[in-house]
Amino acid sequence: MPASSQASPAAEPRAGSAPVAFIGGGNMARALVGGLLRSGVAPEAVHLAEPRLDSRESLAHDLGITTHASNRDAAGAAATWVLAVKPQVMQAVCVELSELAQSQRPLILSIAAGVRTDQIERWLGGRTRIVRAMPNTPALLGAGASALYAGPSVDADGRDRAEVIMRAAGIACWVDKEEQLDAVTALSGSGPAYFFLLVEAMSAEAIQLGLDPSTARLLAEQTCLGAGRMLCESDAGATTLRERVTSPGGTTAAALAVFRQGGFAALVARALRAAADRAAELSTQADASP
Ligand SMILES: NC(=O)c1ccc[n+]([C@@H]2O[C@H](COP(=O)([O-])OP(=O)(O)OC[C@H]3O[C@@H](n4cnc5c(N)ncnc54)[C@H](OP(=O)(O)O)[C@@H]3O)[C@@H](O)[C@H]2O)c1
Repeated sequence: MPASSQASPAAEPRAGSAPVAFIGGGNMARALVGGLLRSGVAPEAVHLAEPRLDSRESLAHDLGITTHASNRDAAGAAATWVLAVKPQVMQAVCVELSELAQSQRPLILSIAAGVRTDQIERWLGGRTRIVRAMPNTPALLGAGASALYAGPSVDADGRDRAEVIMRAAGIACWVDKEEQLDAVTALSGSGPAYFFLLVEAMSAEAIQLGLDPSTARLLAEQTCLGAGRMLCESDAGATTLRERVTSPGGTTAAALAVFRQGGFAALVARALRAAADRAAELSTQADASP
């Protein structure tokens, strides 16, 4: 075990727990590792590199995983690498790991927003198997929504390994083209903030209508949760569910008419397009680097 590890005692991983290395130990890595451990992966099978000593100590203490100060030490211990650093440090991390990537040929799973597989491949020295995933913040609660894209050289086993990791923090689905991850970013990646915005606006107006702030917040939050559960747990889609609660001439119909008159659908469409365009722009900017 490397001297830099704050580790649980060395032990063989349980059967089925092939070692996985996380590079970067921030919020998203913690969420994914937590999910993997809950799904039965042995803590000894998880190696994580993180520059901050306090983060390493808390991850090792809370999760029982092996932590490393050195990215190479963590990566050297596993055939699957999860790159969970910020997009702006991705190039430096990949270049640092390129020699090891060339000798070890790991499966790479990148969760960095806006960094394309061809960039990662180039920075790692070429001929690498790369899966890109776009998770969202509810992954922190195990309720994430992730979409994955696999580069052409990733086989079925590689796809399975990547999917198992993302599924541990919520649902996961695949897209066929890498550009579709821009749409995913606009929908599920940025989506939680749209719902927060709606809850903010609903709560604010409920206060104007006479509710006290804590009651307004409680009712708005639970309404969001309840509506979300109805969407997820019913076979009916959003349109049917909306129609079912909208009696002609009733209160809901009055509110929906105002949304419609205000161009709600067009506004949402413009907002998602802006997010998707920004995601595409960020990938192009990252490409300016060698
Ligand atoms: N959070 C989300 O909702 C979300 C959604 C989709 C995608 N993502 C992607 O997930 C990735 C991680 O996001 P996050 O929210 O977990 O970020 P984060 O909390 O900032 O985690 C990144 C971690 O990487 C560490 N780090 C920095 N430089 C490093 C290096 N050279 N080698 C190894 N580790 C290094 C950071 O340490 P320091 O704190 O010391 O810098 C930090 O602990 C990002 O690329 C982001 O685009 C996040």
